[in-house]
Amino acid sequence: MNHKPRDGFTSTFGVLVATLGSAVGLGNIWKFPALTGLNGGAGFLLVYLLATLLVGLPVMIVETMLGRAARANAVSTFEQLEPRQGGWKIIGWMGFVAALLIMSFYSGVAGWVYAYIFKAMSGEIATTDPKIAGAAFGQLVSNPVASLIWQWVVLGITGGIIMLGVAKGIEAVTRRLMPLLFLLLLILCARSLTLPGASEGLAFLFSPDFSKITPTVLLTALGLAFFKLSIGMGTMLTYGSYFRPDQNIPATTARVMLADLSVSLLAGMAIFPAVFAFGFAPAAGPSLVFMTIPAVFTSMPGGTLFMTLFFILTAVASVGAILSLLEVPVAILTERFGVGRKQAAVYTILMIAALGIPASLSNSTMADVKVFGMNAFDLFDFLSSNVLLPLGGILICLFVGWVYGLPQIEKQLSNDGKLANAGVIKAVFFLIRVVTPLAIAVVLLHGLKLF
Ligand code: PHE
Repeated sequence: MNHKPRDGFTSTFGVLVATLGSAVGLGNIWKFPALTGLNGGAGFLLVYLLATLLVGLPVMIVETMLGRAARANAVSTFEQLEPRQGGWKIIGWMGFVAALLIMSFYSGVAGWVYAYIFKAMSGEIATTDPKIAGAAFGQLVSNPVASLIWQWVVLGITGGIIMLGVAKGIEAVTRRLMPLLFLLLLILCARSLTLPGASEGLAFLFSPDFSKITPTVLLTALGLAFFKLSIGMGTMLTYGSYFRPDQNIPATTARVMLADLSVSLLAGMAIFPAVFAFGFAPAAGPSLVFMTIPAVFTSMPGGTLFMTLFFILTAVASVGAILSLLEVPVAILTERFGVGRKQAAVYTILMIAALGIPASLSNSTMADVKVFGMNAFDLFDFLSSNVLLPLGGILICLFVGWVYGLPQIEKQLSNDGKLANAGVIKAVFFLIRVVTPLAIAVVLLHGLKLF
């Protein structure tokens, strides 16, 4: 066992930054626009907003609470909070698997971002022509060697940071650069919204067509809400275990949720007006961001410089998220198996690198290897975001609502009565006991066509 005192965040501000660093990432810049475009725009956005408020936030609050209450990793937390019912620790193990699955494709996409830093500098992607932009992206992802090497670069860098420890590694990296990304997105929005033809993009994003909302769209939006807030798989629980005792959990999580939403909306408003102005396909999926963002930069002064900066900052944002993903298995391995932090990081990175091979080769060598009609990249994404995370969310709600119980929740969310959170606590308890798990279950069963 590890008898050293547990590492933790050193300030209230550090907690906020690190939690935000986990939430904000490729999910905002890459996944949110891709899924919004693929699923018809405004209707999807509306469902995603509802899912974030009614499901995401309550789950985020109680998941973080569990971690801080037990001060342990995602598996041991359930053992400690309810020693008589050992079965609940399955939630932690599902999170372990989900973290590896997510990282196997997430680190691949982060690799594309790293590669785009150099493409931006060289001027290769300075184009508003969908054909040239598409070819540049295709060239990168269909090259098996390049995709793998970039992924390994990402894993090497983030693995190195995590070995330095929680407070030093995570806080230091995420603290400084996020405001800059926000600013750059604002500039991008201003340019995109003033392009001729921009209004069509705004209509796509904000005037819903309800006929496009199918059970699959609902599940995809719900999965995105979990993925975005890093919940349902032990990340927020593990970060909660590093929270300070005086942290106001509902207030912190609500702030993170709002900031995260604004980054996604800014990314959407930077991308969709340009999609319509330049004639890109809104349903381009994973390639959407990599084609349209360079087009917007190309149409403004100083484009090359800003474009390079944008991909650097996006790379930084992805680091914050990957560190939080790595922390789930690393905390489990160190605290349950007594391995050192460095060793745990190395084992985790190796597992991801192995899973990452089929994910990274999904656009080249292994494009035709399909399970349930999906290549490895899509399968890992689907299994984690649309199955494991919602399932984890249901179980966390049931554990908190029916096993952990109201008196403990009141104690935890009010910091032993020091905070006046009574209204919030009532609302959270009401939601997570029945409403939220039932809503997730219905969407999950419908979306998977099991019901
Ligand atoms: N929330 C991160 C993002 O949007 C991804 C993530 C998912 C991080 C799950 C941790 C856990 O980029």
